[in-house]
Amino acid sequence: MAAWTSAMGAAQLARLLNSQQDRPAGPGTRRPPAYRALADGIRLLVLEGRVPVAARLPAERELALALSVSRTTVAAAYEALRTEGFLESRRGAGSWTAVPAGNPLPARGLEPLPPEALGSMIDLGCAALPAPEPWLTRAVQGALEELPPYAHTHGDYPAGLPALRSMIADRYTARGIPTMPEQIMVTTGAMGAIDAICHLFAGRGERIAVESPSYANILQLMREAGARLVPVAMAEGLAGWDMDRWRQVLRDAAPRIAYIVADFHNPTGALADDDQRRQLVEAARSAGTVLIADETMSELWLDEGFEQGAMPRPVCAFDPAGSTVITVGSASKAFWAGMRIGWVRAAPDVIRSLVAARAYADLGTPVLEQLAVNWLFSTGGWEQAVELRRGQARENRDALVAAVRRELPDWGFEVPRGGLTLWVRTGGLSGSRLAEVGERVGVRVPSGPRFGVDGAFEGYVRLPFTVGGAVAEEAAVRLAAAARLVESGASGSGEAPRMFVA
Ligand SMILES: Cc1ncc(COP(=O)(O)O)c(C=O)c1O
Repeated sequence: MAAWTSAMGAAQLARLLNSQQDRPAGPGTRRPPAYRALADGIRLLVLEGRVPVAARLPAERELALALSVSRTTVAAAYEALRTEGFLESRRGAGSWTAVPAGNPLPARGLEPLPPEALGSMIDLGCAALPAPEPWLTRAVQGALEELPPYAHTHGDYPAGLPALRSMIADRYTARGIPTMPEQIMVTTGAMGAIDAICHLFAGRGERIAVESPSYANILQLMREAGARLVPVAMAEGLAGWDMDRWRQVLRDAAPRIAYIVADFHNPTGALADDDQRRQLVEAARSAGTVLIADETMSELWLDEGFEQGAMPRPVCAFDPAGSTVITVGSASKAFWAGMRIGWVRAAPDVIRSLVAARAYADLGTPVLEQLAVNWLFSTGGWEQAVELRRGQARENRDALVAAVRRELPDWGFEVPRGGLTLWVRTGGLSGSRLAEVGERVGVRVPSGPRFGVDGAFEGYVRLPFTVGGAVAEEAAVRLAAAARLVESGASGSGEAPRMFVA
């Protein structure tokens, strides 16, 4: 299959470069020469994932025209980028963005520490909260009461327990998307669902379009499945999905799958509106792309005004038959990750294929946990538990935001209205160095590049709403200590750069 490279038009690149000008300057002081400022601007766009790695840049003359600078300035900037490893050129063929060898590129997922290994470490690695008790205990007790008839069976339910499939289908129907149990498969978490979908639809070497940034573990799952990731940059702040970019990628790269988290996106917290959802579905349909809509965060609205019915419509509302959209849900964020219960909603034939393929993966999902989730759904315990969860996440979010603003006033973020994560720009400091040094000062934090493709987002970290009160304050104090160490160059990291913005 031919490699696909995205191309940056001169006008598009000029727009992105101009939008940087409002940014506070990096820790450098004097105004750099024009070619240097241009090279830094392009480098930052690459590191932040706003210009993908391996994107073809416009010819020097075109960019010079679009930016109203001399061609010499652009030539000098390109030359500087080549020297620094951010650009590769072939005579007569053009120039492509790159990241230098040796740049810290953690192309891996998150690595949660087991709770017993944490000691006094504050763990901001994992965006998952403890169970909203007493609902976990009640659900398990309820499940035990329902267990005896199942105990007389062989216990293998590759599509999920019929009762839970019906219940999940009814919940979609109640949200306005008529759904039959044949359209539902219960999985081992959302991860199990997405793994199964990727294996069914995307063979090795196939393209998958992903938001950039996106959820680290899913990116890693897709890499390991042999997919070629095509990053589609999220718009600045919480604006989310840039429909021109999505249409361009879906049309030109024709990926087999596109993966989106439209509800309180992980890590940015952005929420797609109805119009963006409709347009994404239409663009995917015309490109023949399967659109995976990951609804893991969909019930985690934290601000007023999202009460039932006020959320945008589910992505699958724009394709109720499920021929383009495959929806993935999970109990992990709304209830408890330890349940490992997720599900897929798709057309019945897709579900049949997923179920058949499952025989070679995990055969099925544990019966007791399925009964527990079914108990929660059928008693209304789910709604009460999720309400508790929202309250806890809201409190944590507000405490973390206040503490980070106080301790790290140079760090920038927008406060999302839901979800579990804050996507934080670290004032020009390397997120990878912060993560390294953080481990030494007692705070575990994932660096931005884990959420990017090919080394983007070096200037970010992700902070989850998992700690509140005094712990949130202490976490911010430790992050500030790590930032001071990185800034002073005392991080013990040898020659590697501590600032990524010149
Ligand atoms: C967007 C998103 N999808 C999927 C998952 C994984 O979900 P599960 O625990 O159900 O496998 C997470 C967990 O952080 C997530 O944030």
